[in-house]
Amino acid sequence: MANLEILINRAAIANRVVELGRQVSADYAGSELLVVGVLTGAFIFTADLVRALDLPLAVDFIRVASYGEATCSSGRISLTKELECQIAGRHLLLVEDIVDTGRTLAWLQAHLLGRNPASLKVCALIDKSERREVAVAVDYVGFPVAEGFLVGYGLDCGDRYRQLPDLCHLRP
Ligand code: IMP
Ligand code: MG
Repeated sequence: MANLEILINRAAIANRVVELGRQVSADYAGSELLVVGVLTGAFIFTADLVRALDLPLAVDFIRVASYGEATCSSGRISLTKELECQIAGRHLLLVEDIVDTGRTLAWLQAHLLGRNPASLKVCALIDKSERREVAVAVDYVGFPVAEGFLVGYGLDCGDRYRQLPDLCHLRP
């Protein structure tokens, strides 16, 4: 797989997940959390993050489609799997793989806030803040990344490469 280059290896990811877990656990001490993973990209990050949290919590998943087979956003977002639990009055932590233009996150925030959670914060593994087109607040960032298309650790290109244990740059 010559077109892949490791950007953030599995050990660095694991260390950062532990740090994020400590930070989130401290911030939410005394409350109960509903962790909402955004499928499919955040499935591995969500699984690792919840095991780094020292809090009572529940986990649910939501799925939106924004990217198709290509490496650029379609700009259109559709909900393809709704949450299954009630969120009114609960503290939500939305777990995303990447925040890029911010369109997906802005859509998700509006969708979830419309159902009156007690609070809503966002934890993203990767923040490509320099590419932002819509202003969105990301409360917890795993790694800021300036450029390039990333795969591995849950992230895909056309549904491939999710199983790679490291975060890799995919060269065209
Ligand atoms: P946004 O709506 O432009 O912020 O796009 C966010 C979504 O696009 C993420 O949840 C990813 O699924 C996808 N995405 C953006 N950049 C990448 C990348 O470098 N690799 C894989 N998926 C990406
Ligand atoms: Mg994706």
